[in-house]
Parts: sequence; C-alpha cells; structure tokens
Amino acid sequence: MTTIRRLSEFTGVEITDVDVRGLDDAGFRPIYEAWLEGGVAVVRDQELEIADFLHYSRRFGHVVPHPSKSTRHPEHADLTVLGIDKFNADGTLNEAIYKRGAAGWHTDGAYDEEPFKATQLYALAVPSRGGDTHFASMYRAYEVLPARLKSLLAGRRGAFTYGGRSKGSDALLDPADRDHAPALHPLLRTHEESGRTSLYFDPGKINFIEGLSPAENTAVIEELTALMVPDEARYDHAWRKGDIVIWDNRCMVHRAAGDYPPAEDRIHWRTSIKSHDTGTRVAAE
Ligand code: SIN
Repeated sequence: MTTIRRLSEFTGVEITDVDVRGLDDAGFRPIYEAWLEGGVAVVRDQELEIADFLHYSRRFGHVVPHPSKSTRHPEHADLTVLGIDKFNADGTLNEAIYKRGAAGWHTDGAYDEEPFKATQLYALAVPSRGGDTHFASMYRAYEVLPARLKSLLAGRRGAFTYGGRSKGSDALLDPADRDHAPALHPLLRTHEESGRTSLYFDPGKINFIEGLSPAENTAVIEELTALMVPDEARYDHAWRKGDIVIWDNRCMVHRAAGDYPPAEDRIHWRTSIKSHDTGTRVAAE
C-alpha cells in the first residue's frame, strides 16, 4: 500500500511502497494530489528503464524536449541527461555541466510563453557527499511578502529570457537558440489547479518588471532576490539512487547545491513537462 508523508511544513512529500511502473489511474491519483499539495514529490526506490521514466512522466502532462539540445539523450529527445560529459577534452571541469542549476534559485522555463508545468528527475548515480537539490515554496514566499511589494507587483508582469540579465548563463544553448524575445508572466500567479497565489520570480531569468523605471527595476529585483526564499519554505533533498523527484514550476523554485566531489558521478535523467501539447515534440519514442 502506497505511503505518503510530508517532508516539511510547506514543501515536499515522500512516497514509498510503490512501483510507478505498475500504477493504474486509481493508484496514480493520490500521488498527483499529494504532489499538488506539497509542490515536490519524492518517490523512493524505483528501478526504471528510459521507457518507464518517460511513461511515468507523461502521467503529469506533455513531455517536451528541453531547449538545451546539446544535453538531450541522443535517441530520446524528450530526455535530458544531467551530469555526463563533465570534463573537457583537456581534462578541465566543464562548469556549465557540473554547476548546472546551481547558479541560484530558479523556476524552469520562465523564458517560454508556456513555462514547464513540472520537471522530473530520476537519479542514476549519486555522489558520496553533497549534490543535494534545494526546493522552496513560492506560495509561502507570497504569504510573507511585505504588503508594499504585494501591492507593487499586483497586476505587473516580469519579462524573462533564458539567460536573463547576466552574460554567459545561456552557455548550454546552441548559439542560434540564444536570441529570443522575452516571455511576459504575472509576478503574482494564480495556480490553475490549486487556485492559490504564489510569487513567480526567477532572478537569473528576469530582465525587467513592466512599468518600473530602470532604477526601480534594479531595486525591486534585488529585494525580491534577497527575500524570495523564507527559511521555513525550504526542503533540501539528499538524493538516493533510484529516487524520482518531480517539482511544480508554477509554485516552487529550486537550485542544485553544486558542491559534490567533481571526480564522482551525479547523473540524472530529466523530463520537462507542460500542461498543454504545444507541438514542440521532436521525436516519438
Ligand atoms: C535543475 O536545476 O533543473 C537541476 C537540479 C539538480 O540537478 O539538482
């Protein structure tokens, strides 16, 4: 019988005593509902082939290829492989691969008109120490946002691109894919399934907030960056081989710790999941 427990007050649920390969709709429903509630769902002790992981990911929505073409699985475009090819030909560490996701708190796909609903990882290899992924609830961030910022952000949209305001943060994109118009999203977001309001903010992808002067933009972006993750909103995930972790990009932010011994393997499969079929699939498995 599937067991579900909260991992912290505001973020995360852990699911045990289940094999996701054998789930029918009735077995999946409590997992989906717990994920919606906790924003992050950790399923322990899974032994998956690629087809199993893709099949399970498709239960959450439409799996689409990630724009970073260079890190897609060569035979399964819908699958990104994290943590491989970590060393350059001259033996130096490829920081873009090793530190992927570790530059700061972020939500996946804010640069897109329809950001990813969810991102799901499956752990194939974990290091002996470090390499956690940190998560935080943006529902909680909204709840404790100062009233002044709540009223400043109400009705305003942020303009997001893959690389945001800093140069070089789009290194994993092919050069031809780097130059995109910003996507605009409300900074206070109503979740389409839970109906709850969250802060929707990504310091590494935001370019500007509509209707603010350049000086106000800098000040507000810096202030939000500093206060977006209240301590109590966090859950830090220490990976075990065989873990599946899925997070809801509509109400959570995350970051990789980026601190494990570089000589050791930390390898995940990753799927990027949208709510709607946006026609961006490039291969059928
Ligand atoms: C990511 O930011 O998508 C990757 C997170 C991780 O590798 O821990």
